Amino acid sequence: MFSRNNNILKVLPIITVVLLNVLNAQELHKKAAIEDRVNDLIVRMTLSEKIGQMQQSQMRGNKDNLRNAVRNGLIGSFLNAGDLEDKLEFQKIAVEESRLGIPLIYGRDVIHGYKTVFPIPLGQAATWHPELVETAASVAAAEASEAGIHWTFAPMVDISRDPRWGRIAESCGEDPLLASKMGAAMVRGFQGKSLADQNTIAACAKHYAGYGAAESGKDYNTTWIPERLLRDVYLVPFKGCVDAGTATLMSAFNDLNGIPASGNEFTLKTVLRDEWNFNGYVVSDWASITEMIAHGFAADEYEAAFKAAKSGVNMEMVTRSYANNLEKLVEDRKISEEWIDELVKGILRIKFKLGLFDNPFRLVTDNPETLSDKFRETAKKISVESLVLLQNNNMLPLADNIKTLAVIGPLADDAESQLGTWVPDGNPEDAVTPLAALREYAGNKINVLYSRGMETTRTKSKDGFDDAVETAERADAVIMFCGEDALLSGESHSRAYINLPGVQTDLIKAVARTGKPIALIIMAGRPLTFGEIKDDVNSILFAWHPGIMGGPAVVDVLFGKASPSGKLPVSFPRTVGQVPIYYSHKNTGRPPSEDQLGIEPGTPEDPKGFVSYFLDVDYTPAYPFGYGLSYTDFEYSDLKLSKHEIKMGDSLEISVTVSNTGSYAGEEVVQLYVRDLVGSVTRPVKELKSFKRINLLPGESKEVKFVLNTDDLKFWDINMNYTAEPGDFKLWVGGSSDAELETMFELE
Ligand code: NOJ
Repeated sequence: MFSRNNNILKVLPIITVVLLNVLNAQELHKKAAIEDRVNDLIVRMTLSEKIGQMQQSQMRGNKDNLRNAVRNGLIGSFLNAGDLEDKLEFQKIAVEESRLGIPLIYGRDVIHGYKTVFPIPLGQAATWHPELVETAASVAAAEASEAGIHWTFAPMVDISRDPRWGRIAESCGEDPLLASKMGAAMVRGFQGKSLADQNTIAACAKHYAGYGAAESGKDYNTTWIPERLLRDVYLVPFKGCVDAGTATLMSAFNDLNGIPASGNEFTLKTVLRDEWNFNGYVVSDWASITEMIAHGFAADEYEAAFKAAKSGVNMEMVTRSYANNLEKLVEDRKISEEWIDELVKGILRIKFKLGLFDNPFRLVTDNPETLSDKFRETAKKISVESLVLLQNNNMLPLADNIKTLAVIGPLADDAESQLGTWVPDGNPEDAVTPLAALREYAGNKINVLYSRGMETTRTKSKDGFDDAVETAERADAVIMFCGEDALLSGESHSRAYINLPGVQTDLIKAVARTGKPIALIIMAGRPLTFGEIKDDVNSILFAWHPGIMGGPAVVDVLFGKASPSGKLPVSFPRTVGQVPIYYSHKNTGRPPSEDQLGIEPGTPEDPKGFVSYFLDVDYTPAYPFGYGLSYTDFEYSDLKLSKHEIKMGDSLEISVTVSNTGSYAGEEVVQLYVRDLVGSVTRPVKELKSFKRINLLPGESKEVKFVLNTDDLKFWDINMNYTAEPGDFKLWVGGSSDAELETMFELE
């Protein structure tokens, strides 16, 4: 026995090496095969067929013209193609009737779920749970592929530090590390282990780049982002997505430092292709190539097509500047056919990877899983973890002995708004609203009363107030659902005021005058300012737009089946005048200190010192990045470093003990922040470097460990080198960006 085992032990390494070699060879063969097939195809294509691959069209207008265009190899992709039947019909034409039989790729905005709608991406980011976000994306991919979709225009990883911007809802928030982790998780979820698997779809990291920095938060607005900031912050999540293998990227609408993003050679070529070696393809955002004319960057379509193609935009969405001008541009020797080949190869490569040439009708139809219980369960779990408890004055979880509960507010039973922005395929009928879920939970144990109070969140009439107040008076406790209708956030839906719209503030105050305890649930697509009602309610739970299972998720949290564990992925301002406000700001030469706090909003005062602050509002946010309460209490102690001096290339082990000192089981997101005290350029006051989600039973303690490499301390220095600099660093660990447990280390 002994000797046989011994023999196995001897040959095991050899078997392993052989196996690994075989596997590597297979991998290489697969890759080589795709490149070979791409190269073989491209030489057989006419210039017109190549340009056809670069055209993405809508399936609108005269269908026969579209059929002919596909037949003649003039369209490579459709976005928002009709129903499954249309998709199959057009694919059949492409593969059976076009000269080379190149399949179409169907793209669609599957942003936060397909039929099983999950919380808006900003809500998903609030889970700080990449594995769960990955699962949600894999569910979306499975459902979308059942509908014949091959490619989603997600994840959106624009760093968003301006809540006025409507598209903050689609983003993963203000922080490059968090957005990078979330974006990469979504890419992995959509694309699975292999794009050739039928239940995966290609991802598209968007909007490359800088779109979220739109001046004044007004959509499509100009952005000015110095290269260092661009690289240190705005490009980081895109790099994360490229490293996770995103098949595609989308070039953005915005003017970036004077050069529109869809004609920007620096971001599209220098960074994306030359530095990051990206070899998938870039699709322009909708008409963003021809919009370079309105930007004043191109005189006409010919020049716009030239600038976009030269920068490396492979495919044009909707507009036809490529279709109309690329042939002439090649003829005029402005663009070489070899360069067109490169651009087309990127597209073909992904079509091959998706297996479209071998299986153009790659549908999972035999076992439809769309909206299955399993998928709904994932939706509920992610909704639960996205809920952020902002305030809790002795009310939540609700006591068992409640007999009558008043449910009040325009969003208690608004299935459509609960889904949030960008749900072209989500159906309100599939959603369970909080009112429905509460009634279901209550059965005949609790009497649930309901008064909408206002028709929508934007209503200006107070006609429903009396009924709301009477309803509250009849109850032991009140649950209010306020916030923003879904249509107040999303593309082109920026707001200059970010308070509770309509007469919601008055409604809350009117109900509060009954003296009943109130838990306020806010559903919204962005951080809102609601300081004026903070003292009128006991508890505030921020629920984003929580998706189809938002109702049951909220009920679980209200009744303590789950303790809230979401953490803000973005700082909440006290007032819109503080915007932009984000935790990783610079210190300035005159940073304010704690004794300059305590200024009442709206009260101009004599300066409390000549420092960087406002006269009429605290300089701190209403709620900081990373913040979120639980029903239980977490205590942090024993922060230890493996050493306090490290050398370049070393790693540092950090450990901390987190204890649940309260009486509920709960999950906590343990966050690690660092400050580089002195640099060749000034450094942010704090930067998130790592985080972990843990669960703890009452009385339980866990040691949480992190490892920090000197690579994690790198930034773009005075000479624009990406490097870590020697010096002292502060390090904090805690449950928000206001983490208090701190220590120091030195990089020698
Ligand atoms: C414009 C939006 O900016 C982009 O995010 C979206 O994917 C495309 N339209 C396609 O619908």
